[in-house]
Amino acid sequence: MAERLTKAATRNIFYGGSAFFLVIFVGLTVQTHLYMNSTSAPVSAMTEGVVRGKHVWERNSCINCHTLLGEGAYFAPELGNVWKRYGGHDDPEKARAVFASWMASQPSGVPGRRQMPQLSAC
Ligand code: HEC
Repeated sequence: MAERLTKAATRNIFYGGSAFFLVIFVGLTVQTHLYMNSTSAPVSAMTEGVVRGKHVWERNSCINCHTLLGEGAYFAPELGNVWKRYGGHDDPEKARAVFASWMASQPSGVPGRRQMPQLSAC
């Protein structure tokens, strides 16, 4: 084996490496595309409530304080599971009532506790 890399060997490593990583890049792009299409909800599943919720979320910049499924700011609690935590799966009416009164009583004013603003425009 040669003591040092020849010009030809260097060129081969460059072209071979470039081709190898190009194949990986294309494969990952295809995989991402397929994954996104299989996990995103179809437009037909967007009920009026879902669309309204998205508008409320965006208009009030809830993401500036909260995370939704891990994305957003870490100032306030995660909201992706809040319906379940409030018992919405077991008793939706009760959960809705608890939510409404909780929201109406914000900001709580409890010292040392982060405050949720009153977003009456919701
Ligand atoms: C300025 C920051 C801020 C913004 C903006 C904000 N929140 Fe909050 N939110 C908080 C804080 C802080 C808490 C926790 C309050 C507490 O526990 O006393 C909270 C709590 C909540 C809770 C209860 C969570 C739980 O686990 O009990 C819900 C639901 C909620 N927010 C919904 C929203 C929605 C919907 C929006 C947008 C319309 C929004 N928040 C915008 C700061 C914010």
